[in-house]
Amino acid sequence: MRELDFPTDENVLVGTATADDAGVYKISDDLALIQTVDFFTPVVDDPYTFGQIAVANSLSDVYAMGGVPKTAMNIVGYPMATMGRGPLREMLAGGAAKLREASTVLLGGHSVEDAELKYGVSVTGFVHPERILCNQGLHGDDCLVLTKALGTGIVNTAIKGGLASAETIAEVSELMAALNRIAAQIIQQYEISACTDVTGFGLIGHLAEMIAGTGTGVKLVVEDIPFLREAYDFAAMGLVPVGAHNNRRFRENMVLAPQGFDPVLRDILYDPQTSGGLLFGCRQEDAEQIVMQLHNEGISHAAVIGTVVKTGKDEIQLIG
Ligand code: CO
Ligand code: CO
Repeated sequence: MRELDFPTDENVLVGTATADDAGVYKISDDLALIQTVDFFTPVVDDPYTFGQIAVANSLSDVYAMGGVPKTAMNIVGYPMATMGRGPLREMLAGGAAKLREASTVLLGGHSVEDAELKYGVSVTGFVHPERILCNQGLHGDDCLVLTKALGTGIVNTAIKGGLASAETIAEVSELMAALNRIAAQIIQQYEISACTDVTGFGLIGHLAEMIAGTGTGVKLVVEDIPFLREAYDFAAMGLVPVGAHNNRRFRENMVLAPQGFDPVLRDILYDPQTSGGLLFGCRQEDAEQIVMQLHNEGISHAAVIGTVVKTGKDEIQLIG
């Protein structure tokens, strides 16, 4: 097999090596570019809502790096022959609404004919080179905060199976379409040691990336972790996406769970999220204030979910 040797230079501040949320390239001493791209197949049937979710998800990696998104380009794979022009316009309109909410301009894009619909945006953002939030760097005694409820992957599986109520679909759609913009603005006012957003690898998977190779342990207080009630019910019925099982197989060697730990809760902790919340470490003395500010801004699921301990081992301990 050919060795992968990607080009780089001295201005690359965050590159491909650290599995971070986005790349960062230094332009000058006070400006760096954040660049990211993401796209996926529909998670809900309504094209306008899907457009909103796809763009909220793509923008999230810029917020997770501590940056402000500035420009975006559409990436579309679309079955024009079978779907026609209408849903495409709806989807792009949903995306445009989210870009406008994020004060991000659309500069262009590219579309191809595709048997299966796919949509997302590439995003360029700005950040001060000294204000970059990386996914690694948690400090001992930090509090861990999560800003959105878990369980969207499980609920999306139920939606695909035609089992979710209109109410549940509306609730989960609103959650996935919510930008991480306000949360990102709030945490900029504090000393944040590390930050990422919870997406395809689930809470445990992204937490594992934050601590892998750092000798850092995390204690999660399971009863404090926000999740969708419907997700629990669907997971108890066995509606768990394949990705959750893959995430578990990949990371369970880093996890210590108490005897008889609820397997349904376990599935939720590994559930791949679409457009999930920010997950970050902050000083203990700031945690309460940060969560209060998040709640005041309507980010009602935000919660302190655990603490960081310097154990010398990369270990996620579940308590509860
Ligand atoms: Co990310
Ligand atoms: Co991504």
